[in-house]
Amino acid sequence: MNGGIAVVTGAAGGIGSAICRRMAAGGYRVAATDLHVDQCQALARELNGSAHALDVTDAAASGALAAELGEVAVVVNNAGWDRFMPFLETTPELWEKLLRINLFGQIAVAHAFARGMAERGHGVIVNVSSDAGKVGSTGETVYAAAKGGVITFTRSLARELARHGVRVNCVCPGPTDTPFLDVFQSEGGQKVVEAMTRAVPMRRLAQPDEIAAAVAFLASDDARFITGQALSVSGGLTMS
Ligand SMILES: NC(=O)c1ccc[n+]([C@@H]2O[C@H](COP(=O)([O-])OP(=O)(O)OC[C@H]3O[C@@H](n4cnc5c(N)ncnc54)[C@H](O)[C@@H]3O)[C@@H](O)[C@H]2O)c1
Repeated sequence: MNGGIAVVTGAAGGIGSAICRRMAAGGYRVAATDLHVDQCQALARELNGSAHALDVTDAAASGALAAELGEVAVVVNNAGWDRFMPFLETTPELWEKLLRINLFGQIAVAHAFARGMAERGHGVIVNVSSDAGKVGSTGETVYAAAKGGVITFTRSLARELARHGVRVNCVCPGPTDTPFLDVFQSEGGQKVVEAMTRAVPMRRLAQPDEIAAAVAFLASDDARFITGQALSVSGGLTMS
């Protein structure tokens, strides 16, 4: 891997902290960002990186962080949030929150950092989508719509930025063993997780480091001719 600064959003979470560890191991100086900055301070200290408060739904805050950090080599758009609920019970307020965190947030962060990358002629953006964004998911209708948007955003941005030396890809996790799965802890939630696990040909949840490994690969120079891709890391849950 190359050195330089790697910005990770949602760094306090299960997958985000695994990504920070992988990026630090690959020689990057990690800027760990999260809504809950207090929860990524210890990680940043452990990795000799820095911790920053960043609400990805605040585009101005992303712009300010980009100005503060200067030259950034890699941005990993990982922050996400979900609520498990039948579509017919959802409200416009919930749609807005889901779309703002999971789609608008990735767009805002990418916009803040992509200009500098394009001007310098190099940089990598890795977005964390979901297999739900490829094939849909019952009870996560609007979340899946946002994650599908992330895939098309990734591909479109990859087309625009390729000529500027900037690569853009996304990783699509399947069900992964993190606090995120607590969204299914409502009545019958455990059954949903069990059904999801049965649907995985490899018959288990992903571990956060398995997602982080794919992110680290796409960020690395080994992936220098790969852009605009949506790589599923889901034990075969979706195959395309
Ligand atoms: N765990 C899974 O089963 C699974 C499956 C597919 C995709 N994903 C995606 O992987 C990514 C990481 O999820 P995870 O499993 O680590 O979940 P997690 O709940 O452990 O972590 C998510 C992190 O995002 C942060 N976050 C939420 N809203 C934010 C905001 N507005 N601004 C900044 N940070 C915010 C949270 O504080 C948290 O630290 C998400 O994008 C999620 O959609 C997860």
